[in-house]
Amino acid sequence: MKMGFGFNGFSLVVVVSCLMVVASPAAGNFHQDFDIIWGGNRAKVFNGGQLLSLSLDKVSGSGFQSKKEYLFGRIDMQLKLVAGNSAGTVTAYYLSSQGPSHDEIDFEFLGNVSGDPYILHTNVFTQGKGNREQQFYLWFDPTRNFHTYSIIWKPQHIIFLVDNIPIRVFKNGEAIGVPFPKNQPMRIYSSLWNADDWATRGGLVKTDWSKAPFTAYYRNFNAVACTSCASKSSTSLSDAAWQSNNNELDATSRRRLRWVQKYFMIYNYCTDLKRFPQGVPSECKQRSRF
Ligand SMILES: *[C@@H]1O[C@H](CO)[C@@H](O)[C@H](O)[C@H]1NC(C)=O
Repeated sequence: MKMGFGFNGFSLVVVVSCLMVVASPAAGNFHQDFDIIWGGNRAKVFNGGQLLSLSLDKVSGSGFQSKKEYLFGRIDMQLKLVAGNSAGTVTAYYLSSQGPSHDEIDFEFLGNVSGDPYILHTNVFTQGKGNREQQFYLWFDPTRNFHTYSIIWKPQHIIFLVDNIPIRVFKNGEAIGVPFPKNQPMRIYSSLWNADDWATRGGLVKTDWSKAPFTAYYRNFNAVACTSCASKSSTSLSDAAWQSNNNELDATSRRRLRWVQKYFMIYNYCTDLKRFPQGVPSECKQRSRF
């Protein structure tokens, strides 16, 4: 399908030839959309491609990656995290491009002992540089049921959502000199691995290998996203492709974002003055539109 996007006055006039992949309403198929790239049969696909599991034992973790690369889009996945004593384990679910100046949009779930809360760790890398961590507790037990974790990646902003509630917005700050991911297509990755040197209470609680294997589950992958984009030279995509997706933050979403940030955010690099004695990064000083 050929899509013509609008241009703002300053853009290079490049018609972006782009395949909008709309997997909805039927969810994607793990056989068709992903490759197991790590851990051999520790990663399994079930139910004709509708369900995937990753597991971790003392020898190895496991992981998968999308066959396709995406440049902008909305990507949803439902995850059910390692239950019970998951201390020391990390389930990473992220988008990333390749190479030394790669871009990356991260969800990482840091496990905990039974009954103690997971931490949802988020980060954004642009041109190889990250250090933009925000961490959250969740308002539910992410091991009991599947919950939907989404990334909306647009030229204007990146929004992280949990069950359709926005938890974090990273705005395009190119106007103030902050690089934004917009030229490098990304793949979807996920892995389950041992990180007991830092993950749980900063590394104090170690993985209990007597509870292995540890298993996390995935289903209902859905991407409304741009693939095979002739993107390298494009400088501006208009909103046209998104208008039907209803993914802007309305008043309710903005209220929810504030609610999460007020009650569930436990770390924000933007307020970590000890870490940035010379001043927090520029994007932290932007007034939020949201
Ligand atoms: C684990 O539980 C402890 C105690 O409640 C808490 O301080 C910590 O933030 C929790 N999460 C992780 C990943 O350590």
